[in-house]
Amino acid sequence: MNDILPSQTPAWRYLEEQARQLFEQYGIEEIRTPIVESTDLFKRSIGEVTDIVEKEMYTFEDRNGDSLTLRPEGTASVVRACEEHGMLYNQTQRLWYAGPMFRHERPQKGRYRQFHQIGVECFGFPGPDIDAELIVMTFRLWQKLGLDQQVTLQINSLGTAASRQAYRSALTAYLSDFKDQLDEDSLRRLETNPLRILDTKDPKTRAVLKEAPVFSEYLDDVSRQHFDELCGLLTSSGVPFEVNPALVRGLDYYGLTVFEWVTDTLGAQGTICAGGRYDGLVEQLGGKPTPAVGFAMGVERLVLLLETHGCLPSSLLDRLDFFIAASGEGAQAFAFDVACQLRSSQHSAKVIMNFGGGSLKTQMKRADKSGATYALVIGEAEVAARSVTLKYLRTDKPQKSQSLTEFLSGLGRLM
Ligand code: HAM
Repeated sequence: MNDILPSQTPAWRYLEEQARQLFEQYGIEEIRTPIVESTDLFKRSIGEVTDIVEKEMYTFEDRNGDSLTLRPEGTASVVRACEEHGMLYNQTQRLWYAGPMFRHERPQKGRYRQFHQIGVECFGFPGPDIDAELIVMTFRLWQKLGLDQQVTLQINSLGTAASRQAYRSALTAYLSDFKDQLDEDSLRRLETNPLRILDTKDPKTRAVLKEAPVFSEYLDDVSRQHFDELCGLLTSSGVPFEVNPALVRGLDYYGLTVFEWVTDTLGAQGTICAGGRYDGLVEQLGGKPTPAVGFAMGVERLVLLLETHGCLPSSLLDRLDFFIAASGEGAQAFAFDVACQLRSSQHSAKVIMNFGGGSLKTQMKRADKSGATYALVIGEAEVAARSVTLKYLRTDKPQKSQSLTEFLSGLGRLM
């Protein structure tokens, strides 16, 4: 779990702002849900037999003895909130969220125990058109951020529930002949959730999987049509993609479309954005059958990528504009007034005042260290004349004394 320090927050804010502006263009509204939910919600949605639920959740009992969990992802919470507030009744929804998620994973570059996602979830749209729109939208975000050359899109279809059932049977039958070569987790999953085995990192199991039946051969007509239409829409939108038949995702709620945006410039944790369709989840959590699709991106990984490729605009490192130095009888009170008027007449002005006294020489040293472009010096003469002395800290222009009114009306030229 990390602190995000002042040197890093401008990049975070930049990314969050770019995403927010884009979502607004697509009519997507913001939702904020609690960080803690009942444990049961995640077990029932993400799936009992997944790494997240089996090994990674931060789960605890509260004072009432209820089992609660720090959210490991946002989708389940959004579905719960929509159901709870009747938002899916004869309505469609396009929603986005941003915030911290928690998974007890082995930390490494790009993988943390508290990490942040920005996600989108849409409800009530059954066709591949919305799948395509979300993917095209993420592509536009990479373009806006200057990252489109660094990422590639992988897509796959996990088919309808019927296709998955047929494939599950075929896979189980095949793997049952190689039980002695499967790792412990995969052996257990053979009975409970065989599709999860496709995700294994164990080299021996991976070798067995090389000859396993392929999902795409078990897709029914509905699944195939959905996928073909999606591919067609992506192609006509000019979004390059690769079909990756091994893409299965680590959460159980997906069916039909799944996708991941990956980069090879961040090391092992290269997925920066991932999602797909989960038409069965709302019903599984007690609602009426509702088609749904969404994605989430990893903010830490995106910030790393922006930094790695020098994609952060230099204006993010904007320096302070004014440092106000004051010394002498009545100077501090007048300086407060100057700062206040300066901030009200120029809302973008970044102004700090000298606090803690000190001689003018000391204060000018602080002004220089602050990185400010200008110093405003206020001594007894300035108090008497209601004027300010402007010093240029980064160029050797001569200093200038002006009445406060004159200075404020000429501010536009300084900034
Ligand atoms: P996910 O693939 O588990 O999907 O996570 C989405 C993204 O969150 C990942 O691609 C990655 O960028 C980031 N991420 C995940 N775990 C970590 C971690 N430990 N440290 C840093 N970044 C991480 C979901 O969470 C789904 N809820 C996505 C979704 C929304 N599907 C449909 N709607």
